[in-house]
Amino acid sequence: MTSNKETKTNFFTNSNNDSEFFIRRCTSEDLDEVIDVNEKELPEDYPYFFYKSILDSFPESFLVAQNKQGKIIAYIMWRVEKAPSANSLKYKNKGHLVSIAVSEVFRRKGVAKALLANSMTAIKKYKIHEYVLEVRVSNYTAIRLYEKFNYKIECIKKNYYRDGENAYFMTLNAKYF
Ligand code: ACO
Ligand code: ZN
Repeated sequence: MTSNKETKTNFFTNSNNDSEFFIRRCTSEDLDEVIDVNEKELPEDYPYFFYKSILDSFPESFLVAQNKQGKIIAYIMWRVEKAPSANSLKYKNKGHLVSIAVSEVFRRKGVAKALLANSMTAIKKYKIHEYVLEVRVSNYTAIRLYEKFNYKIECIKKNYYRDGENAYFMTLNAKYF
């Protein structure tokens, strides 16, 4: 079993030179800890099978950050969606950022930047033409993070969240990353 986990675990570069954390692919053994991080850090919670189906379908871009003690301190997950493009009848693939969260004590150390950069590279394998995401209009921190990667606000999705808050729909053409 251990060797199975080892072969599935890919290591990525991170921008934190003193290595307080490292980035690797998520495995199904990590999902309980991923769910713990989500439940502590974000109001949007999902059932186990939702994480599992994303991991099964898009494992390359489902990444976790682990601290020196081996604890999962952050995750990022994407899915690929087919959508009609604005100026043709063709369907094109979009990379949709489903969720990212970093444990509060590990914030501001570049964990999110490393997760985003590595997962955006990984999801390119699906020949996506655009990266898309929704973010709460009040989530200044996350909006700053996406702007660092040159995402632009394309529109507002009214009442997007269950509590009635609006979302910014942010996009980045894949050729700019
Ligand atoms: N104030 C202003 N800008 C900030 C802040 C802050 N407190 N924190 C991060 N940023 C911006 C900065 O531009 C920063 O770059 P810089 O440090 O070079 O200035 C950039 O984000 C990246 O910083 P990181 O250290 O990589 O970000 P961190 O690891 O702290 O994680 C995150 C950022 C994921 C938004 C974190 O605050 C978090 O988990 N928040 C709660 C969960 C959440 O809101 N997730 C996003 C929901 S939207 C979605 O999932 C599609
Ligand atoms: Zn979304």
